[in-house]
This record gives sequence, structure tokens and C-alpha cells, in this order.
Amino acid sequence: MGKERFVDIIHKKRLGQPLTGSEIRQMIADYVAGEIPDYQMSAMLMAICFQGMNDEELTTLTLAMRDSGDVVDLSPIEGIKVDKHSTGGVGDKTTLIVGPVVAACGVPVAKMSGRGLGFTGGTLDKLESIPGFRVGLTGEEFFRAVKDNGISVIGQTGNLAPADKLLYALRDVTSTVDSIPLIAASIMSKKLAAGSDKIVLDVTTGSGAFIKDIEGSKELARRMTAIGKGAGKETVAVLTSMEEPLGEAVGNNLEVIEAVKVLQGGGPEDVKEVCLALAGMMLSLGYGDGQSLSYEEGRQMAEKALVSGQAYEKFKAMVQTQGGDVNFIENPDKFAKAAFSDTLTAWEDGYITSMNTEGIGVAAGLLGAGRETKESEIDFSAGIQMKKKIGDAVKKGDVLAVCHAGTEEKLQQGLTYLRDCILFSSKKLEPLKLVVDIVR
Ligand code: URA
Repeated sequence: MGKERFVDIIHKKRLGQPLTGSEIRQMIADYVAGEIPDYQMSAMLMAICFQGMNDEELTTLTLAMRDSGDVVDLSPIEGIKVDKHSTGGVGDKTTLIVGPVVAACGVPVAKMSGRGLGFTGGTLDKLESIPGFRVGLTGEEFFRAVKDNGISVIGQTGNLAPADKLLYALRDVTSTVDSIPLIAASIMSKKLAAGSDKIVLDVTTGSGAFIKDIEGSKELARRMTAIGKGAGKETVAVLTSMEEPLGEAVGNNLEVIEAVKVLQGGGPEDVKEVCLALAGMMLSLGYGDGQSLSYEEGRQMAEKALVSGQAYEKFKAMVQTQGGDVNFIENPDKFAKAAFSDTLTAWEDGYITSMNTEGIGVAAGLLGAGRETKESEIDFSAGIQMKKKIGDAVKKGDVLAVCHAGTEEKLQQGLTYLRDCILFSSKKLEPLKLVVDIVR
């Protein structure tokens, strides 16, 4: 019998029938080889959006995407390697803090991070706002840095999950991004290819996350942890709130400055709390033999590393090793400042009841902190400093946020957009729960 026609496989999924392992593997292999045209793959993605995939199909899809390219071998690095990945957020600078905290506790951090996507920021862009910092280390330099310092954060090396690269670009233009199984396969294929032993997922939920409702976010967490289990890698998801930006700073060097404050023992409490939860979970999975610490003990160990300044020293060692100028970390006033800044002030009295956090990410992009096209250059000093949180009382004229941009035009665009993202009412709300749930 000849090869099954792809149109028949699309039809099967359209009817809601599960695909077999060989159908899924063939589909990924043929698509990467250029043998399935984009219009047919678009139809398949749309069918998956409507009909979903069961856990077995999803694990097969993810593994086929992982195996479409290189799979990194981290075994030359001693110890249990625990990766951490956020499903995306606004003001999310957690990797800059969690990585050094975990490394300071003796668990190696060999991490590949990404760039900003849509309204969300990316760790690589933030790190590159430190003058001289190189995210493009060779494989040898990467291994040496992890051996010497216990930590290195770089961009993806080699040809990691090329199927995801192709599918993501297609999803972006066919309205098939926010499908739970497709997001789960996209993220987990890259995480499994990056070679760590265990994975901690920061699944964001709320107005600044890709999946905004709590039930959908829990489902995403459940699907991703099931994929991890199916691939033989312990995976835990920490659900964290993205109903408002994390911390004050949104924008690249602004976020590095805020992360340094946290590493020096200060900074916003919400950033610290989320970082300690994530670091605590990573330590409970990776410390010693990977069984010796509870989550609570991991959290306490993380706090000690933060308070003692050991995590701050690790961060400086990483910056130094990757070519960054440590003077900027020790004297954050040295960071470039935007040419134009202005405040957004409250236009009435009341309490802040909600924020359109995705919109705040878009506003930061308009100010220059993100890319309009793949080729655009980021303005590292552009962005927003949020001065109020949900639940805060405000009086007319109080400063809600400070915006920074490279031109007056961008500043006005960002300020105008931001104004519509903050909602008031006369009723006070309870502060948000930051760590919403843990899915194992
Ligand atoms: N991040 C990814 O890497 N993939 C998605 O599909 C969504 C967020």
C-alpha cells in the first residue's frame, strides 16, 4: 500500500478522530522536508484548533517536533539540570533572578532563552541591554561557563526543533496561535530538545498571558506536564498571575536594573515572591539527588541565596564571563536613559481594579521596547515604570506610570495607548494571589 494522502489525514482530524503515531510523525517529517504545502498544513492546524488532540497524540507530535532537529546533550555537565520556561508575560524578568539563585545553591543552570514574542518580552533582549553581553556563545564556551560559574544563559544553538520554527511562523498568520495543544507542543518540543533532565514551567495566567482564563491556563499546564511525563522528564508547572505586569519595570534595561535591585536584596515584592516560588521548585527537583528537598525547603534555600548576596555574585560572574560590563551592574545609573520621558497621571480618584496587561506590553512596544518587524532594532532604554498595582488607592493627579522613549512621537503613542489599559472604580479589590496553583 502506498503512502496515505495528507488530505485524508486532514479529513480524519477534521472529523475529530485521533491520528496515529505514524501519521503524526510522517506529517512533521514531510512538512519539514517541504513536501506538505503551507495551505494543507494550515488546514490541519485549524482542524487541531477545533478538534484538539488527546495526550497520546500530543506527546507524539511534541517528540516528532523535538526530533526534527538537534537534541542537546548536557550530560558533560555534572548534576541534575533543571530548565525553567515561562509561557510569556509582561515585565517578566524572572530568569535574570531565578537562574543565579538556583546556581548559587549548587544546581547547574544551562539555559537557552528566547527573544520577545508579540506583546511579551524576551530574556535574550534584556541580557543584550547590558553593554558587551554575548548570548551567542559557542557550545564549548557554554559548557565551560556552566562548569566555571554554574550558570550560562544563551540563545538557541544549532538547529533546535526546526519544525516548531516553521509551524510557529504559519500559526502566526493563520490565527492558530492560541490553541492549547499547539502551544504545549511548541514550548515542550524546544524544552525537550534543550537537553535538561527536569523542567519547571511558569504558566502565566491573566490579561498579560497568551491563555488568559484560569481554566485554560490549568489545562495548558496539565497538557505540558503530561508531555514531560510521556517523554520521561519530570515536569512541574507553577501557575502565576499575569493580571498586571510583574514588578514595576517593562522594557529591557529597565528590567535588568529592577532584577539587579532584587538580587541586591530590594526591589518589588511581587517579583521576589514569584522568583522564590520558581527557584524553590527548581531546587526541589534538582538539588542533591533530586529528592532531598521539599518545595518549601527549596524556597527557603532560595531565599537564603538571595538575602546573602550569593545570587547577586553569581549574576555578576555570568555577566563577566559572557563579555558584559559588570560596572553597569554595580552602578545601574550607567545604563543608557531614554531621551524623552513623561508621566501618566490619574484622571480621577478611586481604586485600580484591573489592567489590560497585554495592552501594557503593546504600549511598551510602541515606546520602542519591542520589535515591529523581525528586523527592527530594540531601543533598550525604552519602556514603562508602573507606579501602581491593582487594589491601590489613587488620587487624581497621582503618577500611575512613567514612560520612556527615544522620540517624542513614540512617547506620545505609548502614553495614549497605556491610558486605556488601566481601569479604576470606587470599590477596593483584594490584592491578587501571585502563585495561583501548582500542577505536577
Ligand atoms: N511560546 C512558544 O514558544 N510557543 C507558543 O506557541 C506560545 C508561546
